[in-house]
Amino acid sequence: MTLMKPGPSLMKHYLQFKDLRAEEYAYLFERAAVIKKRFKNYEKYTPLVDRTLAMIFEKASTRTRVSFEAGMYQLGGSVVNLNTGDSQLGRDEPMEDSARVISRMVDLVMIRTFEQAKIEAFAANSRVPVINGLTNEYHPCQILADVFTCIEQRGSIAGKVVAWVGDGNNMASTWLQAADILGFTLHVSTPSGYEIDPKVAGVANTRCLKVFRNPLDACRGAHVVTTDVWTSMGFEAENVERMKAFADWCVDREMMAAAQPDALFMHCLPAHRGEEVEAEVIDGPQSVVWDEAENRLHAQKALMEYLVLGRIG
Ligand code: CP
Ligand code: NVA
Repeated sequence: MTLMKPGPSLMKHYLQFKDLRAEEYAYLFERAAVIKKRFKNYEKYTPLVDRTLAMIFEKASTRTRVSFEAGMYQLGGSVVNLNTGDSQLGRDEPMEDSARVISRMVDLVMIRTFEQAKIEAFAANSRVPVINGLTNEYHPCQILADVFTCIEQRGSIAGKVVAWVGDGNNMASTWLQAADILGFTLHVSTPSGYEIDPKVAGVANTRCLKVFRNPLDACRGAHVVTTDVWTSMGFEAENVERMKAFADWCVDREMMAAAQPDALFMHCLPAHRGEEVEAEVIDGPQSVVWDEAENRLHAQKALMEYLVLGRIG
């Protein structure tokens, strides 16, 4: 029997959260729950035997690296790890040429890099699906896991309010795409000069976005309060300036008290206690950050299965 890889018309990339539709997310969240349950019960599930994932890291990672690598092995496949320092990418081989070569040898590619344009260039020349493992603009796999975590903890996210406190960065833009697709409201409070830009998110209808000057106001009535580091990877040169600008954008107990009584605190991690979040909040009873991190594994296993094999059952 000859097994054919899907042709270009069937192939899907996951470069931004908005690359999938609401009903595809509904499917993925159900699949992630099934895959998680099997994993917890030590049931072997290996639909990706003989499939290979290439991972390209141009920035540091703990969660993305471990979740994709462990996830692919658990699904029966194998993994090739490349980074800028030890591949020809670091010696200026163009993304387009790298894509043409790597995608002839593997079944799936995950990339963490700087500009979104780089991953778009790779995908445009790839024979296999490409997954965004974080760019300067977006972090879709994180929000996939975050929304899955919200659903596990509190049911459907539709109609709810997520409060974003901090930098209008890759995480904020991806939350905005998710709000637009999944039907919830995003409250955002950033220092001036660090605003979220709906154009970056590519969200034309901004009814799902409410901007607040004061972070406490953004948290009022929220079902989820979330934040991220003040200085993202690639922006380290701005660190001193950012430490000053973001001083009031620290999620504290007062902000959590202004949210719903059963509000969740989320953070993609790594976190800096005493900067973007108080230790009492991230280590407190409303925090679900460890479940959120674990869910990267289960959600991405569902995503990889979907991109390689399509819908199961
Ligand atoms: N949240 C996240 O993507 O973590 P890493 O940078 O450790 O992969
Ligand atoms: N906004 C952060 C997320 C890290 C997972 C960064 O891009 O560095």
